[in-house]
Amino acid sequence: MKGIQTKPLQISKYFVLSLFFSLPFLLLLSLRPYYHRFSTPATDNSTPQPSDLRIRPGYTSYDRYIKKQLNKTLDPKLRKIWTTRDWDRKIQVFSRFFEGLKGEGLLSEDSKALCIGARVGQEVQALRKIGVSDSIGMDLVPYPPLVVEGDFHNQPFGNHTFDFEFSNVFDHALYPDRFVAEIERTLKPGGVCVLHVALSGHTDKYSANDLHSVKPLEALFRRSAVVRVGKIDGFGLDTEVVFRKRRDAIQRS
Ligand SMILES: *[C@@H]1O[C@H](CO)[C@@H](O)[C@H](O)[C@H]1NC(C)=O
Ligand SMILES: *[C@@H]1O[C@H](CO)[C@@H](O)[C@H](O)[C@H]1NC(C)=O
Repeated sequence: MKGIQTKPLQISKYFVLSLFFSLPFLLLLSLRPYYHRFSTPATDNSTPQPSDLRIRPGYTSYDRYIKKQLNKTLDPKLRKIWTTRDWDRKIQVFSRFFEGLKGEGLLSEDSKALCIGARVGQEVQALRKIGVSDSIGMDLVPYPPLVVEGDFHNQPFGNHTFDFEFSNVFDHALYPDRFVAEIERTLKPGGVCVLHVALSGHTDKYSANDLHSVKPLEALFRRSAVVRVGKIDGFGLDTEVVFRKRRDAIQRS
């Protein structure tokens, strides 16, 4: 009985021992693809690829994103502040700023103008105040008579509608390429787009992207040329970028 029992035990002992010694090699072999996969980004990190425009994670669907944006736009406390305490001060600042653009010939009283993500339309009121009467705002929630309803990812306007577009909500774009393509689509050839953006410091829990230089913007505005980039102090936004849509941009209408 004893001999019969020890034989299989010995065999299994050697088997286990050999397994034990070969296991590291087997493991190495099976992990090779993973090792490669994980080691590649690690070496990339030593020579970082600059990504100056990052989409914030956490938006699992477009619906969720829109709901979150609406949550800010519809917040009764914020709307009250925008239409009372903020109203005159913002119109004053926007007016001065638009007057400057007028002085540079980037905007005129004949311009058809759009303000993107205008909330309650302080920008629009400022434009009208300085004589740009054909101006309108657009946001997810309308605010008549200054702001009409529209999604900046899918503007409710035809091609080549505006001479001038302004926005200070680029950071709310979940699809910055769509945001820009829609501006370039609805601008007339030779039309001007002015963006106020934050390259540092400005965070809003409703923001959908973070921009760290103007380079990604220059790349996104494929049918326009940069007129100028400047520093501003505009309600938490620090940089102004001015584009002009090329007159020879491909026409499709
Ligand atoms: C916004 O969200 C908060 C909490 O997530 C909620 O209490 C509030 O009612 C929402 N407001 C609107 C206008 O949807
Ligand atoms: C409007 O412009 C877009 C892109 O610029 C183009 O794809 C589309 O065909 C144009 N629509 C019309 C009706 O011309």
